[in-house]
Amino acid sequence: MARTPIIAGNWKMFKTVSEAVSFFNEAKGGAEVDGVESVICAPFTTLPALVEAAKGTSIAIGAQNLHFEDNGAYTGEISGVMLADLGVKYVIVGHSERRAYFGETDEIVNKKVVAAFKHGLTPILCVGEKLEEREAGETKDVCKVQTEGGLKGLTAEQAAETVIAYEPIWAIGTGKSSTAEDAEDVIAYIRQVVAGLYDQATADAVRIQYGGSVKPANVKEYLGQANIDGALVGGASLEPASYIALVEGAK
Ligand code: G3H
Repeated sequence: MARTPIIAGNWKMFKTVSEAVSFFNEAKGGAEVDGVESVICAPFTTLPALVEAAKGTSIAIGAQNLHFEDNGAYTGEISGVMLADLGVKYVIVGHSERRAYFGETDEIVNKKVVAAFKHGLTPILCVGEKLEEREAGETKDVCKVQTEGGLKGLTAEQAAETVIAYEPIWAIGTGKSSTAEDAEDVIAYIRQVVAGLYDQATADAVRIQYGGSVKPANVKEYLGQANIDGALVGGASLEPASYIALVEGAK
């Protein structure tokens, strides 16, 4: 069965509530393209307003993180219960910035993936190698460990529903994107890893995005590859016209 392409904007720590709503009002319509799933992953503070603004549109709203516990004494954290209650549909888990700056290990990432499913949220599980790992020829090993670690304990149905985002860390926000062929090679490998963990049907169903300096000018090259099902986009998702062009480019 054909996989539906998915463009997800990751706004990271950008936009106030009024900026988010104004973006959304400009982007809706244009960023709703038949046959392409469109997701905005926004800061926690903007989520209630965005979920409200997205009603009646086909754009899904996602968070960028969650805590793995449902509630408790975890000052400053937000749980899956809270996100589900808001009407959020997706949640990014294990982004390399969270692994690097907030000490998230594969074990923590896995607990978050499990927590996302517990609350009916779809995780966007990020994997990808550092520059030194790429230079040492370890790209595929790193992606295998992170993919297996992230999916641990999931049923085949949950694994198939998970969106995996392959983001080579050296390509994030640097303007240095991986070539489409290199990204395809790694993503095809990640799909094989999923087949090894589950079966070919699960691997054929799972959607795998590329992320790292994707922009309107190169999105089609990535989406034109057999195994690349979408993009997780930072910088180029922040302006409505650019975001619309990304979603259109995925058609
Ligand atoms: O989550 C998105 C990625 O980190 C890519 O960011 O498009 O700004 O390179 P970027």
